[in-house]
Amino acid sequence: MPTALLETLEQEVAQIGYVSRSIPKELDLKAEIRRMKQEKNAVILAHYYVDGDIQDLADYVGDSLGLAQAAEKTPADMIVFCGVHFMGETAKILNPGKKVIIPDFNAGCSLADSAPKEEFAAFKAQYPDAVVISYINCSADVKAMTDIICTSSNAVKIVESIPKDRRIIFAPDANLGRYVAKKTGRDLILWEGACIVHIDISREKLARLRAEYPNALLIAHPECKEEILSQADFVGSTTGLLKYVEESDGQEFIVATEAGILHKMKLAVPHKKIIPAPANEKNACACSECPYMKMNTLEKLYNALFYEMPEIQVPEETRVPALKALRAMLDLSK
Ligand code: 13P
Ligand code: SF4
Repeated sequence: MPTALLETLEQEVAQIGYVSRSIPKELDLKAEIRRMKQEKNAVILAHYYVDGDIQDLADYVGDSLGLAQAAEKTPADMIVFCGVHFMGETAKILNPGKKVIIPDFNAGCSLADSAPKEEFAAFKAQYPDAVVISYINCSADVKAMTDIICTSSNAVKIVESIPKDRRIIFAPDANLGRYVAKKTGRDLILWEGACIVHIDISREKLARLRAEYPNALLIAHPECKEEILSQADFVGSTTGLLKYVEESDGQEFIVATEAGILHKMKLAVPHKKIIPAPANEKNACACSECPYMKMNTLEKLYNALFYEMPEIQVPEETRVPALKALRAMLDLSK
């Protein structure tokens, strides 16, 4: 790429977070993305919460644990991560030698944002003997201050792996932390972060929906509030929820998580009724949508692959301790 163009694009990414170059209207975006992916030996990893058309283009779609495992194993030269920023960072921590790009740097996460590096360091310093378990939804800086990472699919197992006489800091999702504390009987020191999407599920509207569908099973992600989790027939990560819908004898499900997961559920069990849990926030789908995940668009994905930016970088002094915490989780999750 000519140096002048590179500099212009870098400036644009620094200012607005993504490459906004216009794309010829006649271009078949999906075909071009597939072609570039092959040409550049790139792999597209996507979270269940991104739009269905991006999920359909991805080489692997999964929850946070599955995506970290896929990033660890990929033989591709380049990783294009359609999810949020901390997921791209995780892929880079695991693959320092590969180029990791994400369609939009603005795709953050309220949980990761809730734990700034300095504040988290001060919090940790209050409990010098505690083991630090951090949910993968945190920055590389917080991962570097962590002993072992967890995701929603293995949090209970990770907490149970710590000797009973050790105190545990659990950050940054306090709802997941309270759920795990209840499941394990452990007294966790919680950081009070929350997912803006899952805590917005409306208890009142859900009660009305349950009255309308009395036979529907309620399934929920552990980032939801206790008032939702306590009524759920099943609690699990996004992959756990998908498996449950596939394997359960139930025919109707109310799904209390981000609505992107409905895409794969409807493909997997077209004969079953899948109903998204209602959010307080009034939006077009009257359901829960993560505004960060929805920043991934086909156009931004095309430009990211074409120009190979925005590119995730993690300094070595952060990456090395963060990798140790991630490896500890991956080794326990085999
Ligand atoms: P999982 O991918 O572990 O289900 O977590 C959901 C989520 O909110 C990711 O940001
Ligand atoms: Fe973060 Fe919640 Fe969005 Fe997941 S759904 S990326 S936890 S804000």
